[in-house]
Amino acid sequence: MRHYKIALLDGDGIGPEIMKEAVKVLHLVAERNKVGFDLIHAPFGASAYFECGHPFPEQTQKICDESDAILKGPIGLNHEESKKIPVDMQPERGALLPLRRRYNTYANFRPVYLPKGLAHFSPLKAEIIGDGIDIMIIRELVGGLYFGHKETGVTADGVRFVKEVLEYDEIQIRRIAKVAFETAMKRKKVLHNIHKSNVLKSSVLWNTVIEEVGQDYPEVRIEHILVDAAATYLCLNPGRFDVMVMENMFGDILSDQGGGILGSLGLMPSACVGDEKAYYEPSHGSAPDIAGKNIANPYSMIGSVAMMLEMSFGMDQEAKNVWYAMQSVFADGYSTADLSKPGSGITMINTPAFGDRVVEALRKLPVPA
Ligand code: IPM
Ligand code: MN
Repeated sequence: MRHYKIALLDGDGIGPEIMKEAVKVLHLVAERNKVGFDLIHAPFGASAYFECGHPFPEQTQKICDESDAILKGPIGLNHEESKKIPVDMQPERGALLPLRRRYNTYANFRPVYLPKGLAHFSPLKAEIIGDGIDIMIIRELVGGLYFGHKETGVTADGVRFVKEVLEYDEIQIRRIAKVAFETAMKRKKVLHNIHKSNVLKSSVLWNTVIEEVGQDYPEVRIEHILVDAAATYLCLNPGRFDVMVMENMFGDILSDQGGGILGSLGLMPSACVGDEKAYYEPSHGSAPDIAGKNIANPYSMIGSVAMMLEMSFGMDQEAKNVWYAMQSVFADGYSTADLSKPGSGITMINTPAFGDRVVEALRKLPVPA
């Protein structure tokens, strides 16, 4: 029997609630497929700071180092609560970015997916959605403004200033470009390269390297699109996109817009993949306003489990089954509060009920050979 160690970083806010549902699914997957999952919870985020004095404590680093994959819940506090933590210990800067850097998880896959049958969740009109939305956003995750040189200070004239540098070298661009072309080869063989080369020199180098790598993938058509135009097209005609690749900050913003056109950020799982290690997380934040109420949508967390099954453990069919099980809960007319507007005819269920229904649906599907 195969055994995998999975580090579970519950995180903050709704993190522990949606993690519980992901764990239910992992237990069933283990049972059905005769595979062993050693699930090891470790503190991470603001909660870890208050418990252990550090948002990414050493004991958590060790558990992550020794794990085959990491499943991470959302982190962060609301604006006011955040101020109780020193700036560099706040969980985004003190835990999440160090996690990304530690495992060099440069390739961030953010599927923006809504089958035709669930088009009513989207704020877009049915005629715009057509056959549904199916985009893979590939975001570079360990470069650019997030990780560039930073400086704050006061000039000789007493004027406060700040400087953050958008840095990339060709090695960083080439490796994410390869991931993007490989993904495009498995899909529709079209790659939308998102850039801002009319202003940013970083985009000029980015586009050059994309073109160079593209020579190794002659079957893939490259479409270069300015990031601002891409934001518009995501609303006007999302069907135009299949695989999109972009630098870190553009990817942060456009992937949230992706959640917006689906109707909820709760529908946005993600995979953060490096050459040696991968971690999986919802693309959204910790939603402190609804934490503790058991009303959050666990789809993004369970979807992250599906991505882990496929990308870290090669369990492709079981990953598809998990996706299918989640869609079937919606198809049966149930959903969490974020997607069940009054009068929509959808029956509102809470977080554990959603998880239970996913488990029930998965149990009914044939076990992969
Ligand atoms: C995301 C999040 C993070 C980011 C925050 C929490 C630092 O918004 O994963 O998109 O900006 O990368
Ligand atoms: Mn974001």
